[in-house]
Amino acid sequence: MASKKQDIQSIIRKHKGLKKNLIAILLDIQSEHNYLPPESLRYVAAGLDTPLIDIVGVATFYRAFSLTPRGKHTCLVCTGTACHVRGGSRILDEFERKLEVGSGQTTKDGQVTLETVACLGCCAIGPVVVVDGEYHRRASIRNVGQILGKYRKPETPPAKPQKSRPAKSPAS
Ligand code: FES
Repeated sequence: MASKKQDIQSIIRKHKGLKKNLIAILLDIQSEHNYLPPESLRYVAAGLDTPLIDIVGVATFYRAFSLTPRGKHTCLVCTGTACHVRGGSRILDEFERKLEVGSGQTTKDGQVTLETVACLGCCAIGPVVVVDGEYHRRASIRNVGQILGKYRKPETPPAKPQKSRPAKSPAS
């Protein structure tokens, strides 16, 4: 795991130990974990010989970084004006209902983080939902389940116990 000191040092070396590569370093760490574990920021501060507060400042400034664990999948629902008037907010409600989380939260199984965005710049194809970077155009309440099903694996039901059959007698 990249949160281990050696792994963080290896990422820093990959970026030549330069402070100007801090964002690239943080992106690499986040790509391993889907968030920035607190200890990783301390290792980065030490590795770049930079005050921890500066590292935390960058990590909290950019929306691309998260300091809390995120789901395996990120589901972004646009609630900007153009998407809102076509049902974007009701679509968000449906995602919240199906995932049992609010916007900005991660499902209990750690599979999905639900977020909203004010506009994705593609209003003509709205309402828009983006999951892991894949755009779902003209989304509707009806296809929320279908969108989620593409990314979430259904839980495997426990195997049914096998009933043992009495052995047939050779005469029958
Ligand atoms: S308002 Fe949703 S893409 Fe612009």
